[in-house]
Amino acid sequence: MPLCVRSYELSQKVCQSIRFLPFRYIKQTERGCFSIQSNMEETSKPKPTGPVVFDGMVVPPFPPLLQDAGKRFEEIKNMECRKDDVIVVTYPKSGTHWAWEIVTMLLKQRAEYSKEPMECFFLEAMPDFNFVHNVPSPRIFNTHIPIRWFPNQHIENGAKIVHVLRNPKDIAVSMYHHFKNVGMLGDVENFQIFLEKMFMNPKAQVMDGWFKFEKDFEKAKKNDELGAIITVHYESLKKNPIQETKRLAEYLNVELSKEEITEISDKCSFKKLKLASQTVKDNSLVANVELFKKTEPFVHRKGEIGDWKNHFTVAMNENFDAIFKEEMKNSNIQVQFE
Ligand code: A3P
Repeated sequence: MPLCVRSYELSQKVCQSIRFLPFRYIKQTERGCFSIQSNMEETSKPKPTGPVVFDGMVVPPFPPLLQDAGKRFEEIKNMECRKDDVIVVTYPKSGTHWAWEIVTMLLKQRAEYSKEPMECFFLEAMPDFNFVHNVPSPRIFNTHIPIRWFPNQHIENGAKIVHVLRNPKDIAVSMYHHFKNVGMLGDVENFQIFLEKMFMNPKAQVMDGWFKFEKDFEKAKKNDELGAIITVHYESLKKNPIQETKRLAEYLNVELSKEEITEISDKCSFKKLKLASQTVKDNSLVANVELFKKTEPFVHRKGEIGDWKNHFTVAMNENFDAIFKEEMKNSNIQVQFE
């Protein structure tokens, strides 16, 4: 089937899936977590006024997680997988959109932007999980899910996992701006408070926090529990985009010429991908999902290595480094801060 036809059909399915999003009314409890009210007539949108905690972690405020995080996590863990599925997994703000676009182009074997925004294939955020069954192969999903909730069958199948790792100082900065832009910071006044009270605070960290998220992946990799996984460092992809895109192509068993690899990596460079996200992507597919409407314009912010230097004071940096050293003392993860 020609790709344009496939793409059109897929767009229709995505539309249908998203249009009938059944939000439920969320109410804050005394403990600061959300409870779900069953009266759906009161409003059609969630009212996020505090963090939702599930399985010991704060979950991002995606409607399906606000509605019933346990249900969605179970759906993901038990999802029916195909042998040629690829899952891009990242801690939030690690460059998910970037990696997903590269993987998508590589598997299409063409330097052509996907019309569907990445969010359409976002496991914990797609409004109706049944949508996964409608996606034509090869399906390229993305997720921020910790390893203990990763789809079982995908691992059993030995199917491909693309893991992107970014240094946590730049992630903190990126997350701060993202949360600030979409009004998710509440009374957090500045970056320093965000870093202390949210990013480094075990009770407020999103998806287990960077340290646990990445160390759990490292452990699973070491124990050979993940089968086929490649880790791409955000910083390496930024410094050597062609070389890293080629490495990804080899991992995905895609044979492309040097010129084709170069074209893909160029089309996915920060400026071009940012422009494409505003001009090529059919954002109407996710336009009626309130959260994406708010977040999409802020995804492509700076796209640099080391913006943390513009945000960390010397004292904040020393404190971070001390925590980093302690947390990572038994880890072999190589983190590139510059
Ligand atoms: P900054 O906020 O530091 O600019 P995610 O896709 O996981 O939400 O990550 C978003 C981060 O990746 C943002 O970081 C964004 O600018 C950066 N990013 C997106 N596309 C990029 C690209 N093509 N090259 C470099 N960085 C990119």
